[in-house]
Amino acid sequence: MATTSTIPPKKASAIPTAPGALPVLGHALQLLRDPLDFVCGLARYGELVRVRLGNHPVVVVCDPELTRRLLLDDRTFDKVGPIYQRSRDVVGTGLAGCPHSGHRRQRRLCQPSFHPHRIPEYAPHFTAAAEHRMASWQDGQVIDVSGELMTMTMRSSVAAMFAAEIPHRVERLLLADLTTLLNGSFRQIISPTVLNRLPTRANRRYQLATERFGRTLREIIDHRRTDRTGPSDLLASLLGAVAPEDPDGRPVLTDQEISDQLRTFFVAGTETTAATLGWALHLLSRHPRVQSTLQAEADAVLGGSPPTAADLPALRTTANVVTETLRIYPPAWMLTRETTRPVVLGGHAFPTASTVAWSPYLLHHRADFYPEPERFDPQRWSDRKPDRTTFIPFGGGPRKCIGDQFALTQATLALAALAARWRFTPVAGPPVKPVAKSTLTPRGLRLRVNRR
Ligand code: HEM
Repeated sequence: MATTSTIPPKKASAIPTAPGALPVLGHALQLLRDPLDFVCGLARYGELVRVRLGNHPVVVVCDPELTRRLLLDDRTFDKVGPIYQRSRDVVGTGLAGCPHSGHRRQRRLCQPSFHPHRIPEYAPHFTAAAEHRMASWQDGQVIDVSGELMTMTMRSSVAAMFAAEIPHRVERLLLADLTTLLNGSFRQIISPTVLNRLPTRANRRYQLATERFGRTLREIIDHRRTDRTGPSDLLASLLGAVAPEDPDGRPVLTDQEISDQLRTFFVAGTETTAATLGWALHLLSRHPRVQSTLQAEADAVLGGSPPTAADLPALRTTANVVTETLRIYPPAWMLTRETTRPVVLGGHAFPTASTVAWSPYLLHHRADFYPEPERFDPQRWSDRKPDRTTFIPFGGGPRKCIGDQFALTQATLALAALAARWRFTPVAGPPVKPVAKSTLTPRGLRLRVNRR
């Protein structure tokens, strides 16, 4: 047992079960109907609360300290079990989904690509993608926010990964296939394999896009291997990744590994960042005063020019809006681990192969840490730094998001670029409802854009 306490632990079966479980379904209906409300409500039953998905018990951690313990001990609370196996089958064995056994090597090799000193190299691509997208908007137009921001974020990630050197035709293919992959991967992960193999139109489209996306990535890697004079981008950094223990400093990632990592970065980084920006615009459109403050900051700091990495320290309000958006709508709202050995957490003994869930959404909405948690108030962050125990949009511990600075820079620069040129207002229609699948998205959000 991984504990030194002298108090004998209680059995995991003594953990309170959330009320309302149905025979066979367990809490599945509540989770499907209103997952966010259901998850937030769990904290009132204790630090650890048991729910049932069908017959499968899952313990949800509702306490920040216990969540941190779980995140720090990634050997015991590992990314194994059926959910991760399915996700590896669907999206490959990149850094985000690999088990602890392969994680440290992959992380060491990928880390230099995301080192803070590299971020300014990627920044011009973030701004250029925002400028490119805005150029197609008309004054007074109603835009499909999620669609627009997905395109912007994908384009910006493609550019940061491969600099500007891929032909437009190849870029178009990558964007089209990535859209199909992102739209289909959640369904592929949760559906039984046998359903995924049926020759339906959706399955065939997904399969074709997966194959072509992999082929395109391998061709780009191949081309770069033969021409090492290419630009300094994320791909160059992965191609040059060396094992620190190798005195000759030989590159070690195979083409397949690089392709898997690139795919992981696209999948892990695109929808999450697009959702953050989408929620930010949604909140700003409903809080015109905050929007005006943001615009005043963009005017004062940028003076009509596109934002650059050098502007980041002065874009304080913009950064606070991003932080507050990530608190209210953390895109990775709920995640799971499986225990690889018996362990004690919160005074309860968990056997091997227990499923444990943790939720940034739940912690971010606890009124004892964030008074009036539903209120959008970027000012909360003006004299308070995000705390790594109660503010965890990027997770924590050894599996913390490798792209956190990449994403924060991308979101802050894009938001400053948008705020400098446009005003966003709500349009009549049903209230925007968060769609909580693998990512928490404002699907269907439409806003009117007016040139400033
Ligand atoms: C706002 C945007 C983003 C959010 C909210 C986010 C959130 C997260 C979270 C919560 C985790 C931890 C998952 C876990 O512990 O189970 C994670 C891991 C990861 N993220 Fe992000 N992410 C974002 C953007 C990005 C970007 C832009 C990239 C890459 C370009 C990226 C790549 C990854 C990778 C590779 C991992 C796995 C790290 C590891 O296991 O060592 N993410 N992300």
